[in-house]
Amino acid sequence: MAPVLKAGRGLELRPLNLRDAKALFALIETNRDRLRLWLPWPDANRSVLDSRAYVLRVRAQARLGVARSFGLWSADRLVGVAGFVWIDPVNRSAAIGYWLAREAEGQGLMTRAVTALLRHGFRDLKLNRIEIRAGIRNRRSRAIPERLGFRREGTLRQAERLAERTVDHAVYGLLADEWRASKR
Ligand SMILES: CC(C)(COP(=O)(O)OP(=O)(O)OC[C@H]1O[C@@H](n2cnc3c(N)ncnc32)[C@H](O)[C@@H]1OP(=O)(O)O)[C@@H](O)C(=O)NCCC(=O)NCCS
Repeated sequence: MAPVLKAGRGLELRPLNLRDAKALFALIETNRDRLRLWLPWPDANRSVLDSRAYVLRVRAQARLGVARSFGLWSADRLVGVAGFVWIDPVNRSAAIGYWLAREAEGQGLMTRAVTALLRHGFRDLKLNRIEIRAGIRNRRSRAIPERLGFRREGTLRQAERLAERTVDHAVYGLLADEWRASKR
């Protein structure tokens, strides 16, 4: 199973566990209206049972090595989810996805969480390429790869169907060599 990743100042990424399903659902419920603006799944997550099914699915994907999602815990409170939404082991490539509760926004928590994921991905999982895709108009989401030295690689047109619209994605990529060079 995935390890716990420390992101500093009491912020931890912990592999999602079935016992987290209740807290996870409560967080989705309070943040539903803003999450559905940029994520496709909140409308399908309507009960603790849906959150349990989600946790079981991501744990199975982690066992297969095709994804790896973590609960984001700040001072022992669940504040969001971040992780590798897919991993392509053949090409040593992966994509990071994330969301935060409103009260945890604006403090740099996700930037630190993604920094920990980059370290884990490049160093422990030996990935060669990590990407982040964000809605073209999702300013807060795009700011994270831009802050962390990713390169903007292009635009995927009509990449994601959200509840009320279809959006283009900005694609950002970071290579292992570039990440290592930034550590020197
Ligand atoms: C995308 C999302 C996770 C970004 O959250 P965020 O709080 O803006 O991101 P961070 O935690 O990295 O924090 C950055 C903010 O904290 C501020 N900050 C404070 N201290 C900071 C620090 N040490 N380092 C970096 N930023 C810091 C930054 O200035 C920035 O705020 P600003 O945009 O008002 O200038 C959040 O908006 C979200 O969950 N949105 C809904 C779901 C979503 O869109 N998911 C992504 C789909 S692609």
